[in-house]
Amino acid sequence: MSRIGRFDTDSAALTARIDAHAKYAGGDFTGWALGLLGAGPDDRVLDVGAGTGQQTLRLAPDVRSVLAVDASEESLGALAASAPGNVTTLAGRFDDLAVRSCDARFERAISCYALYYAVDSERVVARVRELLEPGGVFVFCGPSYENNAELRRFHWDLADMDMPGPTPASTFMEETGPELCRTRFAQVERHEFTNELRFDSADALVGYWSSYNLYDPSLEDRFRAAAERHFAEQAVFSTAKRVVGVRAQA
Ligand SMILES: C[S@@+](CC[C@H](N)C(=O)[O-])C[C@H]1O[C@@H](n2cnc3c(N)ncnc32)[C@H](O)[C@@H]1O
Repeated sequence: MSRIGRFDTDSAALTARIDAHAKYAGGDFTGWALGLLGAGPDDRVLDVGAGTGQQTLRLAPDVRSVLAVDASEESLGALAASAPGNVTTLAGRFDDLAVRSCDARFERAISCYALYYAVDSERVVARVRELLEPGGVFVFCGPSYENNAELRRFHWDLADMDMPGPTPASTFMEETGPELCRTRFAQVERHEFTNELRFDSADALVGYWSSYNLYDPSLEDRFRAAAERHFAEQAVFSTAKRVVGVRAQA
């Protein structure tokens, strides 16, 4: 599976989206994901699809080491610029982890909003399992079937279309990903996190939408007009990032 959205390796788009979440979302998604991971001071952690370091940089002070892997050299450059000395970066596709000789072993592995971009996610899951020490934990996160339902409905109404079914990313998180782990890990758990996003103006809503995979320049005028109609009648537009976290223990 690949080329799912605009954020696969686009560092600027990723930064815009992270900034939009920081501005409009109340919850601490990264804190929740790291809680599931449960890494301790002796742990070596593999971050698969580390991006600009949302998870790596929060983890680093509390663990032995982090290896941050990402296809975007630009994102890894931004990460490295503020990383402490126990962080190493590895530029390259995580699909290549399967063929790359890697002597390192890890007690924990994490992959937030990234695993479903793999060309062959089954190979990547199998490789992560190989790289984990016995009892090691792999946590990966991404959108649930209900992710951003309110905003998606708003968008598709403008396109005069029924809301499409599950996205490839949500199908991976709800079905394929857990299934790939069940045959390889001793224990697999599904967790959920809801991060409400509240917008108080048409500008705010349009700004967020334009940082999101759904953005479609041909709908921009209609989107803005509909947002203005919404805020003429209501003070707030709410949607929610609904996240699935899979915790697999080797
Ligand atoms: C949505 S970002 C998530 C980044 C980070 N985990 C976070 O939560 O902020 C997805 C990341 O996966 C990386 N990525 C996508 N496909 C990849 C691949 N096949 N190999 C390595 N990295 C990949 C992208 O470059 C991007 O940094």
